[in-house]
Amino acid sequence: MVQSYKNYIDGEWVGSSTGETFENINPATGEVIGLFPKSTCADAARAIAAAEQAFAGWRKVPAPKRGEILFRAGEILVKRKEEFARQMTAEMGKIIKEARGDVQEAIDMTYYMAGEGRRLFGHTTPSELPNKFAMDVRMPIGVVAAITPWNFPMAIPSWKIMPALIAGNTVVFKPSRYTPHSAYNLVEVLAEAGLPSGALNLVFGEAEEVGDPLIEDPRINLISFTGSTQVGNDIAVRATKLGKRVSLELGGKNAIMVMDDANIDLAIEGIVWSAFGTSGERCTAASRIVVQRPVLDEVQQKLVVRAKALRLGDGLDASTDMGPLVNESQLRRVARYVDIGKEEGADLLCGGHRATNGTLAKGFFFQPTIFGNVKPDMRIAQEEVFGPFTAIIPVDSLEEAIAVNNATAYGLSSALYTRDVNKAFRAIEDVTTGILYINAGTIGAEIHLPFGGTRGTGNGHREAGQAALDVFSEWKSVYVDFSGRLQKAQIAD
Ligand code: UN1
Repeated sequence: MVQSYKNYIDGEWVGSSTGETFENINPATGEVIGLFPKSTCADAARAIAAAEQAFAGWRKVPAPKRGEILFRAGEILVKRKEEFARQMTAEMGKIIKEARGDVQEAIDMTYYMAGEGRRLFGHTTPSELPNKFAMDVRMPIGVVAAITPWNFPMAIPSWKIMPALIAGNTVVFKPSRYTPHSAYNLVEVLAEAGLPSGALNLVFGEAEEVGDPLIEDPRINLISFTGSTQVGNDIAVRATKLGKRVSLELGGKNAIMVMDDANIDLAIEGIVWSAFGTSGERCTAASRIVVQRPVLDEVQQKLVVRAKALRLGDGLDASTDMGPLVNESQLRRVARYVDIGKEEGADLLCGGHRATNGTLAKGFFFQPTIFGNVKPDMRIAQEEVFGPFTAIIPVDSLEEAIAVNNATAYGLSSALYTRDVNKAFRAIEDVTTGILYINAGTIGAEIHLPFGGTRGTGNGHREAGQAALDVFSEWKSVYVDFSGRLQKAQIAD
């Protein structure tokens, strides 16, 4: 008997207005593991109304008290971490260790933002006039729409929901239809922790029925979206026309640069983890490996050996190194890029096919794939693949590596392997992505630093860290004149 789940609107668990559902499918086995409401515009509208109504009360709850609710939520997440991780692996495929990491990232963010309840610092600053006091304070924006992808089903929602709530906003949350269970778990935890009705509402469903009303309804003040560049840019155009704030986290085409003085074995570890971890379904995945020619053969050979040795399987099996892709359309997408790579004249060094041995045939598995002899302007070196796929680009120097690294339409994460401190600082100065690692791969951002990227990766905002608060609040500058007379700024007499 497959279990059914409900939306969460105005503090109640409710089905969709039509009673229709969609199936949550395990991508490793093809099994149906849950039924979720296929919601309509009417359901979205009810959620928006509830969030709008709750805003007046929630913004008045002292931020330290809001923080206490988040703190309790963090404690529940800690208690239920293993259960939630297993449910996440079952619905989207990432291996259990990584699913635990995903829940842990949500725990970290929840505690971090709980602590912000007692900070939310503004500034005081001297006024240019005597007997006048100047300060700035944060204020909430209103009703926030959090629209999230399937690749980090608990972490990414927490990056949006926790800072939104601590800053005093209310939220309508629309998760990906491929990871409804993790979204359900996160919301259930916050409800149990004592969030007042309407402060957080959860509506499952498709972009057309649930996403579009969130973009268009005038009661939504801010849209925080993580997903594809195409969808993000479309949201930005539509929402900006309506005068809404929009924060976007979009694609990446991240590179690991390996210099000839690097610890090559360490670099190989970082590349395997960054290119094939989460089956390459991270916006931070290393889908380009930029290698200085003297170490090219060594890097290539070692990488191919490691990629071929990765054990594919159900992520719930502790011996699995790499799980399935999330769905069939991702499989087709990766296969298409294999064809493109071949047509462009790159060398397929390993992988390139769907994996169908034994029980793998039931799921959406793709072999770890590496192309060599890739030119920086080929499509496989420029376009996001979002699968276990990486492209090796030979270069002659650090300067060339950095130039190649910076020359894509995206700007999320980069990494440099070198033992030379001067090269490391050259990269710190000249790399133009939002994240840079020295002697570590491109994945593994921590929640108390800003997360996001330049160019097409976003629209200038950052998630996580203190930077998240700037997305979910607005500044109010306050002047208190206690001189008892009219004083004029900028005017001498
Ligand atoms: C994403 O891929 O969208 O740095 C987020 C990382 C993770 C977050 C990835 N902490 O890879």
